[in-house]
Formats: sequence, structure tokens, C-alpha cells
Amino acid sequence: TFVVTEACIRCKYTDCVSVCPVDCFHEGPNFLAIDPQACIDCAVCVPECPVNAIVADHELAPEQQHFLQLNATLAGQWPVINAAREPLPDAEQWAGVTSKLDHLVQ
Ligand code: SF4
Ligand code: F3S
Repeated sequence: TFVVTEACIRCKYTDCVSVCPVDCFHEGPNFLAIDPQACIDCAVCVPECPVNAIVADHELAPEQQHFLQLNATLAGQWPVINAAREPLPDAEQWAGVTSKLDHLVQ
């Protein structure tokens, strides 16, 4: 499966969702999660993300490993999003911030 990682938090550009052939993105207030049971590993979403937040599970950096379980959990709680929308208003400001997990709203 592919995994949405920390870079998405407080940005939520949503370019990724419009290309997913199986609608496996789920939307929370300031982050998206991929349903690992729905993802078919096509990788087409990866280059769509302006902040490179989407990573294959086997390529996760050590400090991003916990996002695998987090995506599965949050995807189960949040509704599907399959059409792009405006990024969060201060997305550009948060795009370069590397440590954002404390800001994740569930
Ligand atoms: Fe969807 Fe493909 Fe990205 Fe998985 S890898 S989330 S199936 S676009
Ligand atoms: Fe997040 Fe990137 Fe998609 S910021 S919403 S993973 S395009």
C-alpha cells in the first residue's frame, strides 16, 4: 500500500485524490489517509502531491513508519474524498515544516 505521511498535515493539497482509480483516500480536517485495503499500488498519486507526502509502505523513512498504522486507522474513521478541493488556506506556510504530527486533527 501507499501511505500519506507527515508532509500532508496542514497542507491537504488534494491533487492526489482526483487520480486515484479506486477512491481510497479519506479526508480528515487537515490530513488525508489512504485505505490500505483499497489501495492497488498503482503509484499514480505519488507525483501529484506538491509536498511529496505519499510514499510506498516499504520505502517509509524510520521516523514515518507510524503513518502506516495511522493511515489504516484514520481511513476507517473518515469519509472518502475523490474530487480535489482548495488546499488549506495556510498550506504554503506549512509546506516546508517537517515536524507537524502534533498538529494532526483526528
Ligand atoms: Fe490510489 Fe494508486 Fe495512490 Fe493507491 S497508489 S492511493 S490506488 S492512486
Ligand atoms: Fe496531502 Fe499531498 Fe494529497 S498534501 S492531500 S497527500 S496532494
